[in-house]
Amino acid sequence: MSEPTIAAKTPAVLELEPGTYWWCRCGKSAKQPWCDGSHKGTEFSPKELVIDEARRVALCQCKRTANEPFCDGTHKSL
Ligand code: FES
Repeated sequence: MSEPTIAAKTPAVLELEPGTYWWCRCGKSAKQPWCDGSHKGTEFSPKELVIDEARRVALCQCKRTANEPFCDGTHKSL
């Protein structure tokens, strides 16, 4: 499996309303941290994120987290 693109070495901290979101796993989206379809032709696919209650999240943008789609601090070692 090839490595995803590093979109940023900082998480995207967002206040999300309830709903279904698609987190970009390939790192190529121009709408980080969300999928914009740029993964087409790669081996990556977006990850679904379901938010039940409005809350603050820190979403991984280095695409190396072990806890997708959330930041786990891995960007600090890149
Ligand atoms: Fe990256 Fe869709 S654009 S997973």
